[in-house]
Amino acid sequence: MKKLLLSLMIVLLLSPGLIQANPTQNGDFVAGKNEFLLNGKPFIVRAGELHYSRIPKPYWDHRIKMCKAMGMNTICIYLFWNYHEQQPGVFDFLGDKDVAEFVRLIQKNGMYCILRPGPYVCAEWDMGGLPWWLLKKKDLKVRKRSDEFFMGKVKTYLNEAAKQLAPLQIQNGGPIIMVQVENEYGTWGDDQKYMETMRDNIREAGFDKVQLLRCDWSSNFYRYKLDGAVNALNFGAGSNIDDQFRKFKEINPTSPLMCGEYWTGWFDQWGRPHETRDVNSFIGSLKDMMDRKIAFSLYMAHGGTSFGQWAGANAPAYAPTTSSYDYNAPIDEAGNPTDKFYAIRNLLKNYLQEGETLGEAPANPEKTIEIPSIKFNLTANLFDNLPVAKKTDSIKPMEFFNQGWGSILYRTQLTASAQPRKLIITDVHDWATVFVDGKPIGKLDRRKGQKEVEIPAVKANARLDILVEGMGRVNYGEAILDRKGITQNVVLSDGTKETELRNWTVYNFPVDYKFQQKPKYISKPANGPAWYKATFNLNETGYTYLDMSQWGKGMVWVNGHNLGRFWKIGPTQTLCVPGCFLNKGVNEIIVLDVDKPKATTIAGLNHPILDAIGKDDAKKDGKTKSLNLNGVNPVASGSFPAESGWKAINFDEVTSGRYFCFEALNAQNATDNSTSAAEIEIIGEDGKAISSIDWKVVFVDSEETEKSATGAEKLFDLQESIIWQTKKGDKTNHPHQVVIDMGKEVKAKGFRILPRTDKSNVGVVKDFRFYLQKTPFKF
Ligand code: GLA
Repeated sequence: MKKLLLSLMIVLLLSPGLIQANPTQNGDFVAGKNEFLLNGKPFIVRAGELHYSRIPKPYWDHRIKMCKAMGMNTICIYLFWNYHEQQPGVFDFLGDKDVAEFVRLIQKNGMYCILRPGPYVCAEWDMGGLPWWLLKKKDLKVRKRSDEFFMGKVKTYLNEAAKQLAPLQIQNGGPIIMVQVENEYGTWGDDQKYMETMRDNIREAGFDKVQLLRCDWSSNFYRYKLDGAVNALNFGAGSNIDDQFRKFKEINPTSPLMCGEYWTGWFDQWGRPHETRDVNSFIGSLKDMMDRKIAFSLYMAHGGTSFGQWAGANAPAYAPTTSSYDYNAPIDEAGNPTDKFYAIRNLLKNYLQEGETLGEAPANPEKTIEIPSIKFNLTANLFDNLPVAKKTDSIKPMEFFNQGWGSILYRTQLTASAQPRKLIITDVHDWATVFVDGKPIGKLDRRKGQKEVEIPAVKANARLDILVEGMGRVNYGEAILDRKGITQNVVLSDGTKETELRNWTVYNFPVDYKFQQKPKYISKPANGPAWYKATFNLNETGYTYLDMSQWGKGMVWVNGHNLGRFWKIGPTQTLCVPGCFLNKGVNEIIVLDVDKPKATTIAGLNHPILDAIGKDDAKKDGKTKSLNLNGVNPVASGSFPAESGWKAINFDEVTSGRYFCFEALNAQNATDNSTSAAEIEIIGEDGKAISSIDWKVVFVDSEETEKSATGAEKLFDLQESIIWQTKKGDKTNHPHQVVIDMGKEVKAKGFRILPRTDKSNVGVVKDFRFYLQKTPFKF
């Protein structure tokens, strides 16, 4: 109490009448009854999320100031474990990784900080922030108490994090008002003891005074309890706020309310349409929160770029995230304000708290420039520049060769065959080209579940090469143990006999700049996968977007900075280059294209191309069939009530099956001929959802995959804010049907379905039939 009074006096002395003083003195922040209290006074957190690792250091201050000008009083940050401990036991918090400096800048700007150190963070970041080298342990388990190795490494990391940041807790005179324990654990598990251990680790590491926080979803926050942590809920633009908090308020009647992540936009995935979130529905729900005095954090205020190899992926189905993390956020990738920025600012100016004012948006320290077409004369074929070979009898993923990211080449010899044979690769992570005697004969794309190529007739000792490029590691859900390269084995089948191929020679192609300088560059056109190198001169520097639309697939380094991934399938066709990566005078650019460019020039544009889907070699068009349900009996049928939230349906008896069909017979609105749904789960005998990790959509009569990323696989992507929607403007009437192959036979006692969670009710299903059977459906 004494401390509280003292803090209050200091605040009053320093700035009479102000609640939000520069937090340079020891202060206090707690979750009180129904409200947060900053130095004893009610305080509504208006946070904007920024990731220091996605913003070059020279711009940190600018982006923080932009958030303040948008109406924020707090900056929310993740701490990315794998960014700071890239080799076991070697921690780096210097330079661009000096997160304490970022937090001090927040304080210098008169703002507060919410710190989210994980250890798991999700964030569309490689492996959700967990270090890849953990995967060297064959039986690794993560986010589980049962793996002592994992738990030990977490403790060491949290101790190191606290050395940097515990001195910056508000009670020690810093700006950190809350520290989050783990991230959305309710989507992963219900082991309360695990969360308690994580909480205790954070406390013991040195975050001993600060208010703790946890975040989950309205549908799963009750799966565990965590004493000592206030509970925020995460949801997206356009959500119905009363619905989101209804159950939470019942269970936690005196908790302050906070949206831990209010998603301003969404991330893009390769091969799927660019994601945007409408500014009006976004602002509508933000206003609803302000009117109810609900604290929030905008995820993201400014997304920036997942440079290098850091972009992650989602699964199921495997969907790698693009390097641009623009996120359709209010502040764009280069730090400039968008319409959403001004809309937020306009709204929030009406909700400022005592003593707060809104400054003007600061000028961007960088202008945006164009760079005339750069020509590449120097090339180095990948096959002419193989690094030192390693040998292995059975095939292994790259982690077992101490490689974190990049490409890996597996080479062996084939026996003679006068007939073509089938090569079955289990599994390609993530994109492979197969060569026989140096000639490309097929490509395999994990996004499409592809595993087989035909090997032509060959003579004895023909050379088989499989070049596999790893993309982002899965950052969400049980597929997170995502080793790269070839994960199990390679089998050759002649139709009667399957032979596992052995005796491999392996070549590793890591992503560090040093490695890209090693090949011997020559002035000759390249042939097959290759590096391309050029220099270019600049009179002035600034942000620019490299137009990669003529190139195939790979990565780009400018003056040693790895900009990230490009892929002709889009939707992103540019790579963002921050001005501080460029030099006045001579600059060097290296491209590694593991596919094939159409033209070998690159221009710098003054705008990004985020929404151009390109030619996708792997695209299959199987939509012409129609489902034949004649004589098939549903295991369940009925009518859903109109209200929001999960609906569970029990079958009459436990039923076995591998294939299920969900059939929507109409919508809640009788004139609506469309169907939408957010998630579908099959409930096993134990009452838990059966894993959807191997599920595949076999058939859907209609899906919108062009105007929005709302294909049928969104029904089991584990993301409740992302939906399956029938084609917009589709005149086809009900019934709408989706058939899913679960990959193996399961025993089910029912299913659960979640209607869309935003304010719209378009497509929300009323009457349904549900089929489950052991054999494939007929078409
Ligand atoms: C969740 C996670 C975040 C991020 C968003 C989607 O809420 O907590 O890390 O992955 O989804 O952008």
